[in-house]
Amino acid sequence: MKGVQDEVPEYVRGEIASVLISAEKIRERIEALGREIAEDCKGKDPLLLGILTGSFVFLSDLCREIECKHEIAFLRAKSYVGTESTGKVKLEGLESIDISGRHVIIVEDIVDTGNTLEKLLPILFEKKPASVEICTLLLKETERRTKDLSVKYTAFTIPDQFVVGYGLDYDQSMRHLPFIGIFKP
Ligand code: XMP
Ligand code: MG
Repeated sequence: MKGVQDEVPEYVRGEIASVLISAEKIRERIEALGREIAEDCKGKDPLLLGILTGSFVFLSDLCREIECKHEIAFLRAKSYVGTESTGKVKLEGLESIDISGRHVIIVEDIVDTGNTLEKLLPILFEKKPASVEICTLLLKETERRTKDLSVKYTAFTIPDQFVVGYGLDYDQSMRHLPFIGIFKP
């Protein structure tokens, strides 16, 4: 059910075509996902590795639903300018995270072309983790993703449209919206 949280505020109505996933739906799905991860990770003390900036809202809600011991770290990846992927991915912050022997769960806001993860995965594996899994809030159905990525945890699969809110941005704005909305260019 849609509530007050899902009303598109007046000051962004010119930029949001519609609400794709309501705040309530997000909450319910993250609860279930947190339970699933906790079940899989008992005794493994996993490292949740959030990709900044987009994953910060998702990870902060998700970690509070994972009722088992775990740790959290962030690294930064940047590939988009406006609504276009530049194809080049810049990673920062990995040097200071101890990956060796850890069960790593990469936490992404959205998997689109897959470029970010394709670049990140081999670099992570060089650091000899015990295992690596991918957890994403959104998985875009798109032909631009050419290689197969095995994503273990997906909160929602969405159509090939540019979305904002719940951590996702258009040029750094609209990350704070509690729902996921379709961007109106
Ligand atoms: P790739 O293409 O590397 O994309 O899988 C991953 C990163 O691209 C950004 N991205 C989006 N950001 N709305 C956004 O706000 C979108 O629809 C969207 N699609 C991709 C995002 O930063 C993600 O981590
Ligand atoms: Mg982004």
